[in-house]
Amino acid sequence: MAAFITFEGIEGSGKTTQIQRLRTGLEAAGHQVVQTREPGGCPIADQIRGILLHPDNSGLVARAELLLYAAARAQHVEEVVKPALEQGKIVLCDRFTDATIAYQGEGRGLNRELILNLNQLAAGHCTPDLTLLFDLPVETGLGRARQREIDQQDCSEGRFEREALEFHCRIRTGYLALAAAEPERFRIIDAGQSPNDIAAQVSELVAKFLSRRAESP
Ligand code: TMP
Repeated sequence: MAAFITFEGIEGSGKTTQIQRLRTGLEAAGHQVVQTREPGGCPIADQIRGILLHPDNSGLVARAELLLYAAARAQHVEEVVKPALEQGKIVLCDRFTDATIAYQGEGRGLNRELILNLNQLAAGHCTPDLTLLFDLPVETGLGRARQREIDQQDCSEGRFEREALEFHCRIRTGYLALAAAEPERFRIIDAGQSPNDIAAQVSELVAKFLSRRAESP
């Protein structure tokens, strides 16, 4: 049964670890799963990711950034998301169109209509069925993200982590507003809990979502 599930949150919200755990659980239960991410998810979009996230590219202007996210998404949707859904698979995607509204809209202050139009152009009819928002205080998330950079000795994707605290606060507020506007699609997860507690909550709510979906005509 096809389902498109997306995962959103500020930097350091722990969603990537949780997606991996969910994937393992779903596969063990016999589901066919495709795990992917944005920006990226296929070779061309991964190259665009390199441009978008590299700290050397601090000169990238907001409109160019927006267009690159849209370009990466158009490629990823066509190559990965759409075919997987057509084959009846569950697609778990680390960030999608909501990230553009939160980051380029609330964070960078770009026009909402423009972003919605570009999201539509890039994603077409591929809209998430369920979105899990991993929420936690910005200071905690940024602390975790910076620690990860130090631990992994890799700063090649740190351009956004270097933004000011207020930028990330606007993104968190933007995400919470999106969740409030679409309560049917969004579930908010308290990302400050232990990884095991979060994994249990995620697994339970996705199982419920899938069984309701299987029952609906
Ligand atoms: P992540 O893979 O570590 O979550 O990094 C992706 C970064 O790209 C993260 O800082 C959020 C940002 N982003 C946007 O600004 N707009 C978007 O549309 C997407 C998908 C991600």
